[in-house]
Amino acid sequence: MKSTPESNESQTSSPSAPQSSSGAVQNLKDMADLVSLCKRRGFVFPSSEVYGGINACWDYGPLGIELKRNVKELWWKAMTDREDVEGIDAAILMHPRVWEASGHVAGFVDPMVDCKKCKSRFRADKIDAEALAQKKCPECKGELTEPRQFNLMFKTHMGPLEDSASVVYLRPETAQGIYVNFLNVSQSSRQKVPFGISQIGKAFRNEITPGNFIFRTREFEQMEMQFFVKPGTDMEWFERWKEIRIKWHLNNGIRKEKLRFHEHGPGELAHYAKAAFDIEYEFPFGWQELEGIHNRSDFDLGRHQQFSGKKLEYYDEETKERYLPYIVETSAGCDRTLLVALVDAYRFDGDRTWLSLHPNLSPYKVAVFPLMKKPELVQYSDKVYSELKKRFRATTDDAGSIGKRYRRQDEIGTPFGVTIDYDTLTQHTVTLRHRDTMAQERIPAERLVDFISEKFQNWNGPAV
Ligand code: GAP
Repeated sequence: MKSTPESNESQTSSPSAPQSSSGAVQNLKDMADLVSLCKRRGFVFPSSEVYGGINACWDYGPLGIELKRNVKELWWKAMTDREDVEGIDAAILMHPRVWEASGHVAGFVDPMVDCKKCKSRFRADKIDAEALAQKKCPECKGELTEPRQFNLMFKTHMGPLEDSASVVYLRPETAQGIYVNFLNVSQSSRQKVPFGISQIGKAFRNEITPGNFIFRTREFEQMEMQFFVKPGTDMEWFERWKEIRIKWHLNNGIRKEKLRFHEHGPGELAHYAKAAFDIEYEFPFGWQELEGIHNRSDFDLGRHQQFSGKKLEYYDEETKERYLPYIVETSAGCDRTLLVALVDAYRFDGDRTWLSLHPNLSPYKVAVFPLMKKPELVQYSDKVYSELKKRFRATTDDAGSIGKRYRRQDEIGTPFGVTIDYDTLTQHTVTLRHRDTMAQERIPAERLVDFISEKFQNWNGPAV
């Protein structure tokens, strides 16, 4: 009876040498490859697909939602493990005056141009200055319309009457729900400035040019933290948060050379910002914003104080001072962080595709396989699986050749595979197979949980 996995992958008692099946390892070049993997394996599906889909809306499938939960949990833990950060979950619908105070009603606009010939629509600030001056379509050279200002907020009506008095907006950022709760949180939690409030939630923007898969969509999730500080200490906190946030992305295994800071110049600064840096990632379509870190000064609390007529000042009991705190914001897109994780992890060597995800992000940490569908192997495998499941998110699979089963797990980023074969029955050892190198080693079954835990604790980032 054959007792080693039916694949061309080697198996030894110490990790075998990396087995690259074909050519050099490549990273993601074409987003279409990732979109296809995500659909095939259940990470992300086009929304309402049976009706032909709806532009730039996406649904997360069984593995996508696991990955997304991991992203959110890692972010939430990094924030709220700190003694000086509290969490909230504010409503999506807010008083319409919030958006006047925030500047979104007047200022959250993009200039939009349409091509009269091919009907393409562009953000005027994103097309080449010369083409814009000549009013020439970048696609077909047809004539462009004059730029029109377009407010990005989605409007709806609250209650049965659809009149102007009932207009409410779907929030375009989660931040405002934090500002209007600043006093509620500081008083109820007895936090003293400096402290922060974090929130994860949906935001909506009627983007003119959504696209690049889940990079820019009209409905997305943000992970935002607003840190309230004494004026004068804001730049020091700003620098600290910049470092904390880039380290968080690096700790998720994102390659260092693919991340950089981009400082907003005077022309780029948002209406609220005193200083702003983006953390950018190099996607196949170029360097783009992943997260924004902003010094928002006292703009937000000042405006809400002015528009609501309620005092939002903080009273410092130690120094007996009263002031409006400055705010340092860290604002990351949850979907965009997830996209970065997938893009960064994608590997292809001419034969094999795998996601070299950090185990903290992987939907499954380990997969268990009986070598064949023989009752004695399946029974042993089920036992190993139920032990591993107590500790890690695990899966099991007995369909098809072992090589194919490994490949399926590679494509969804499962760091380890465990195979139960005939030697397992007599020697109580299993084959542990490493996703990134395909190396295999023989481990006593009773040591598996500890062995995998140690590997995760000492994980030093994805291979390659
Ligand atoms: N509160 C500040 C704020 O919202 P932003 O730079 O407009 O700042 C922050 O957005 C982050 O939200 C971005 O870095 C990006 O990750 C994410 N984001 C913004 N618009 C998005 C969209 N249309 N689709 C997906 N993510 C988006």
